[in-house]
Amino acid sequence: MSEKPYIYLDHAATSWPKPQVVIEAVQHAMIHDSANPGRGSHQMAVRASRVLFDTRKQLSKLFRIKNPNDIAFAANTTAALNMAIKGYVKPGDHVISTSVEHNSVRRPLEFLKQTIGIEVTYVDTDENGVMAVDQIAAAITARTTLLIVNHSSNLLGSIMPLASIGELARSKGVKLLVDAAQSAGILELDVEGMGIDMLAFPGHKGLLGPQGTGGLYIHPNVDLVPQLHGGTGSQSEAPEQPSVRPDRYEAGTQNTPGLAGLKAGVQFVLNETVKNIHTKEWSLTQRMMEGLLAIDGVKVLGPKLGEERTGIVSLVAEGIDPSEMSYILDQHYNIAVRAGYHCTPLAHVRAGTMQTGAVRASVGCFTTEAEADALVDAVREIRKQYAF
Ligand code: ALA
Repeated sequence: MSEKPYIYLDHAATSWPKPQVVIEAVQHAMIHDSANPGRGSHQMAVRASRVLFDTRKQLSKLFRIKNPNDIAFAANTTAALNMAIKGYVKPGDHVISTSVEHNSVRRPLEFLKQTIGIEVTYVDTDENGVMAVDQIAAAITARTTLLIVNHSSNLLGSIMPLASIGELARSKGVKLLVDAAQSAGILELDVEGMGIDMLAFPGHKGLLGPQGTGGLYIHPNVDLVPQLHGGTGSQSEAPEQPSVRPDRYEAGTQNTPGLAGLKAGVQFVLNETVKNIHTKEWSLTQRMMEGLLAIDGVKVLGPKLGEERTGIVSLVAEGIDPSEMSYILDQHYNIAVRAGYHCTPLAHVRAGTMQTGAVRASVGCFTTEAEADALVDAVREIRKQYAF
């Protein structure tokens, strides 16, 4: 094990460390508020329900959602995307998505293609992961019912023009589902203003909450077939799932301590402001990119230096396998990054890295310039060793 200070650059997978207020909120809920929310009317059960409602309220403030009950909690973005896709798409539908989608969109779509018979078009971005809206417009047919867009690529850090995509979807009567795995808490999101019908978000990345939290915003005009059936603590005499939200989409006991932590994380983000977090992360990526691009044989994927991106810098270095680079960074330099395909094969096809995969360094709101520089110095040293 290296003696060097530990540097965590894997925020795109999950943020770490969490703010102290998040840790304290989880602990407080476990000690004081962890009866079953929505079941029973004793004092602690009511406090647990309050935790859930307050978390929905904070999220509504962040995403500009009118009614907090239009948010259904889910264990993670994957669960939220499955809830949306399988609950909305019907046999014979045509769905449009993009070439920078995560497997949490692609696999449910491919599953539905095989099982109920749907048609899927993946519209190509350019090699940097940037999408031209008119390409989406050209793919819409009379059978298109749903458009699914990754707000920001988890490989390339590129950002989709959501407001224009939302305008297009509305004008064509197509519902828009946004995967905010890499953007919630990092980029501005306004569900009404951007024409978003469903928004899947993680609690454990940019919102700084614990793992096992996340959710799906569902516009009041969208009704999904629930994917989970069971107890909700409401309308218990009825054999079918209640129509009232959020119960319709939240069968089973919720993660009260985790959601208490998420509430504290969202409050932290609201205090810092999304704009400041994004500006800080962007400037760190630019610093990192400048350093990396100056190293012979190193290529950085995604938008060019100076262009907008989220806190992701993926790279390939001539002659070094990404897994090996990541292993050396971890074992020798004590720097945590992620290597491989990052569950987004089509983005690798687009970026031309399907044969190799890539090393991904991703920053968070606590990352320092010295940590960004340490990554660059380490890559420079490793590259020197391998360049003959
Ligand atoms: N989807 C997460 C990532 O990109 C786990 O690493």
